[in-house]
Amino acid sequence: MTGTADPDRDDRGYLMTQQYRDGRNLDARIALHERFGEQPEPWHPWLLARARRALPRATARVLDLGCGTGRLWSATSWRVPSAWRITLADLSAGMLAEARAAAEAAGVRIERAAQADAANLPFADGAFDLVLANHMLYHVPNGDRPRAVAEIRRVLSPGGALVAATNGRAHMDELIALVRTTSGREDVGSTLSGDSFLLETARDQLASSFPNVAIERYPSTLVVDEVEPLVSYALSVGTWAEALAGREDRLREAVAAQIAANGAVRITKDSGVAVGT
Ligand SMILES: C[S@@+](CC[C@H](N)C(=O)[O-])C[C@H]1O[C@@H](n2cnc3c(N)ncnc32)[C@H](O)[C@@H]1O
Repeated sequence: MTGTADPDRDDRGYLMTQQYRDGRNLDARIALHERFGEQPEPWHPWLLARARRALPRATARVLDLGCGTGRLWSATSWRVPSAWRITLADLSAGMLAEARAAAEAAGVRIERAAQADAANLPFADGAFDLVLANHMLYHVPNGDRPRAVAEIRRVLSPGGALVAATNGRAHMDELIALVRTTSGREDVGSTLSGDSFLLETARDQLASSFPNVAIERYPSTLVVDEVEPLVSYALSVGTWAEALAGREDRLREAVAAQIAANGAVRITKDSGVAVGT
């Protein structure tokens, strides 16, 4: 691990070479949400609907910033407007390659893929009509986030929109508590978003570039009735895996005991979007 307080959150070197070197960690987390979320409308279609509502035109130049594995596109391919011209960008070359392959395998055409840092975008002023920054602005160090927000504004055309997904304070609280008790480490950090860019603080953080910010929550709970997907999620966070090293079976046993007693482990999901115009 490196020197920042929580390298899983905002240590660019660690994020590029370890946490997001490839899609495995993110896949484990997305799989838990996709398999055990109780909300009938899955997250990605919900998110795409918000993006389409933010910019209600058939033709748009769209930047997916911090695209990760491109799950947004592979999970919603049939609903993506065919006239959208999509550019992918991510700090990690590995993620970018996976995202492009996944989107194109699902039939979504990608115009361009660029390895890029949100705080220094290699795109012309006004190059896009819509920027998606989904579960990524919390990875930009606090000191650089204002610059990233200004960069997003710069690359948007007049009248363009930003759709930034992030978490609220209560996100995954019960899992964090389980990791803390089973690792014996009360100092273990919270989710990747921590308190850096939250639904509660997004409006203020975007205000300098986006005078209008609308926050919308995605109401859901995880109802997890299998042990391993939850353990895989916990071990996908580097600092949690380190805290749990040698104690993974304690976590397994604690999860199994809750499932035996209650039928499932219920975990608060507190996510949503900040739409800036
Ligand atoms: C939690 S994942 C989200 C991926 C995807 N947007 C999604 O919602 O599934 C965060 C992604 O942001 C990327 N990322 C982190 N910091 C970044 C930065 N400063 N600039 C661009 N991408 C960044 C990571 O490499 C990772 O792929």
